[in-house]
Amino acid sequence: MALKKGFIFDLDGVIVDTAKYHYLAWKKLADELGFEFTEEQNEMFKGVSRKRCLEILLDIGKVDATQEQFEKWMIEKNEDYLSYIDKMDESEILPKVKKVLKYLKKKDQPIALGSASKNAQPILEKVGLISYFESIVDGNSVTKAKPDPEVFLIAAKDLKTKPEDCIVFEDSVAGIQAANIANMISIGIGDKNVLHEADYIFKDFTEMNKKFLKKLIKK
Ligand code: BG6
Ligand code: MG
Repeated sequence: MALKKGFIFDLDGVIVDTAKYHYLAWKKLADELGFEFTEEQNEMFKGVSRKRCLEILLDIGKVDATQEQFEKWMIEKNEDYLSYIDKMDESEILPKVKKVLKYLKKKDQPIALGSASKNAQPILEKVGLISYFESIVDGNSVTKAKPDPEVFLIAAKDLKTKPEDCIVFEDSVAGIQAANIANMISIGIGDKNVLHEADYIFKDFTEMNKKFLKKLIKK
């Protein structure tokens, strides 16, 4: 019988580089509120829910908000973000991601998405990857944010795979911690100094060969 694992992909920063659009949308809001928001500060926003991002942003700018303003700014930021998403197409898929997805499909491996984003579904549709995913667990389906393992545990359940047989691809520290807490194999995509808690780290998918993927399936 063929070996089956559960492969769980984060979206932003793993499949597509949407961090730049999140940054532009948050920066626009910061500009409007009259303070600076840098790309370095944007690093703290990776893997973090929209609500938590706004809380951090307002802390940075030392801005107090009423509940009403808070809700309004969340909507404003998302509308601005969606104007970038609207223009996305296949060309925005990060290098070799499609090749990895294709390889896993060929090997009959179940694939899920495990993302904090509430915009995951439209993004996967825009870039034409939605058909690769048997399950999409996103910001609309979870109550607890990464590093809580909820998002990955739901994905494992959907794929009918035990957590210890799941492999998670993540670009955020919170996401790697969530995968580790869930007792899954964590694969960091990005900077090895930032993602040092991961079981394996690759700069991007161009560094990952078939031999490595084969090993993961057989493990
Ligand atoms: C994560 C991103 O994937 O999704 C975060 O890394 C983002 O930066 C979060 O804040 C929520 O995204 P959205 O699309 O629901 O605002
Ligand atoms: Mg991410």
